[in-house]
Amino acid sequence: MKHLTPPDILLQASGLHKSYPGGAKVLGGIDLDLHRGERLALIGANGSGKSTLLKCLLGLHDLSGGAVTSFGERFERAPSRAQRTRIRQKTGFVFQQHCLVRRRTVLCNVLHGLLGDPGSWRGFSHMTARADWRVRAMAALDDVGLADKAGARADALSGGQQQRVAIARALVRGPELILADEPVASLDPAAGRSVMELFSGLCLKRGITMVFTSHNMAHLADYADRVVALRGGRVLFDKPAAAVADDDLERTFA
Ligand SMILES: Nc1ncnc2c1ncn2[C@@H]1O[C@H](COP(=O)(O)OP(=O)(O)O)[C@@H](O)[C@H]1O
Ligand SMILES: [Mg+2]
Repeated sequence: MKHLTPPDILLQASGLHKSYPGGAKVLGGIDLDLHRGERLALIGANGSGKSTLLKCLLGLHDLSGGAVTSFGERFERAPSRAQRTRIRQKTGFVFQQHCLVRRRTVLCNVLHGLLGDPGSWRGFSHMTARADWRVRAMAALDDVGLADKAGARADALSGGQQQRVAIARALVRGPELILADEPVASLDPAAGRSVMELFSGLCLKRGITMVFTSHNMAHLADYADRVVALRGGRVLFDKPAAAVADDDLERTFA
């Protein structure tokens, strides 16, 4: 069912609860609006529910209570299959690691971003991909400065280069939103900064809304407009990045 929200609100959670089967409550009533064009950092101690919240917002996990409206698609519990497909088409993902098919080429990994259904990856290679898809994938690789690595095996690249490929894969579909879950947590600080710089710059340039989780507090000031902190399954604070003070961080990670 379509649900009307102001056009500048891309995602909205109201009273969102989540418990895993047989587990304790992870999210205990989250209210959150994500605005178009915003760069939002989600912070919180390990296990505070950041990844769970991201997955619930996209309907990748069933909700235990409350509702989510994602690109105007409202759902409780779980989105319909058609809603999930529409949400997926507007969203790109970047994860911390294990995100590339290591033995495939860089180009093939970016092409995967154009496929809606992960099951259809099997048997798919850059040799059999449609020509127009190859053009788009090459353009995305060019955007992240890796066009010359298109034919290399993904696992022959450095960690920072692999995350750039993951960003190209997220960009290739022309998403309105990119969700990045600890995108640079496995990189050294210099590589992490360079990947965040590229990622944030591309999102700003294209008006892509960006949500990322991070443990690197310097990244909040440099790459986020707004910071939402989770603690004990609830929003501890939600404020402009420039207003986040040391004691906010102490409360978050205490
Ligand atoms: N698939 C799952 N099944 C059961 N429990 C889970 C699952 N995923 C996460 N959890 C639990 O939910 C809590 C929040 O996890 P997570 O959302 O991954 O937090 P964060 O990303 O902030 O580290 C943790 O206690 C974790 O063990
Ligand atoms: Mg996580």
